[in-house]
Amino acid sequence: MELRPILVFDSGFGGLSILDRLIREMPSEKYVYFGDNAFAPYGIRSTEEVQTRTIAVVRSLVNAYDPRAIVIACNTATSAAIQELRTIYKALPVIGTEPAIKPAVLAVEGITDRLPRILALATPITLKEKKFQDLMSRFAGRAEIDLLPAPELVSIIESQTDVDERAIAYLRDCSTKKGFTPPYDAIVLGCTHFPFVKKSIQTVFGPEAPVFDSSDGVARRTKDLLAEIRTDGSLSLQFDCSSPNPDAFRQRCVSLLRQLGCFAGGED
Ligand code: DGL
Repeated sequence: MELRPILVFDSGFGGLSILDRLIREMPSEKYVYFGDNAFAPYGIRSTEEVQTRTIAVVRSLVNAYDPRAIVIACNTATSAAIQELRTIYKALPVIGTEPAIKPAVLAVEGITDRLPRILALATPITLKEKKFQDLMSRFAGRAEIDLLPAPELVSIIESQTDVDERAIAYLRDCSTKKGFTPPYDAIVLGCTHFPFVKKSIQTVFGPEAPVFDSSDGVARRTKDLLAEIRTDGSLSLQFDCSSPNPDAFRQRCVSLLRQLGCFAGGED
């Protein structure tokens, strides 16, 4: 069956944590992964800048690849631009990513006599936008949720240099400045980059705390919204980026997907 590709978009490497789950859920699909790494990180920019950039880049990708679904594998771009993208691409499923507050609250509710304590980490844009504020208000009173904007963590992960060491030092510093008191009962990774430093985040905020990210939810939602799923071909992966070295980007993407345990079945 010849089907058009699924476009997966992020500011850089973060959306690979979503692509990994998409591949596990739909292993015979055709994916185009795009990282806007020349413009990353998004989270330190203004909402308007991220909105304009996301719409412009997605527009050029739709023209170039003619996808049959668009996955915005970025919480920040979702907060800034998902409504506009859905208005522009009415005929396509446009799937966004939002912090997994709901599964975290449901998992820890009632486990202690006190209110459960959850830490949610994301970029400043994600935390301040209405989409997230609305989500938080749905769970008001059911958990004590501390919010930690961690924009530098994205740059640390994008740099691919001494990542865990620098992530731990940065997070300890953020936590102290905020007066936070780990350990937490659960941790929400509200940025698709953060699964790459999951262990470091647990080291600082709760080695025993269950960690929730959005990847499974986004993969399931994408599968549900697709009219047809390719089942008779092998996995097809194409990588593209906005920086001038797409070969290096592709190699790094494949190695990060391996780090997540993708291709365990041998596909590459
Ligand atoms: N990976 C993105 C997210 O989920 C944003 C990272 C950034 O560019 O700041 O929010």
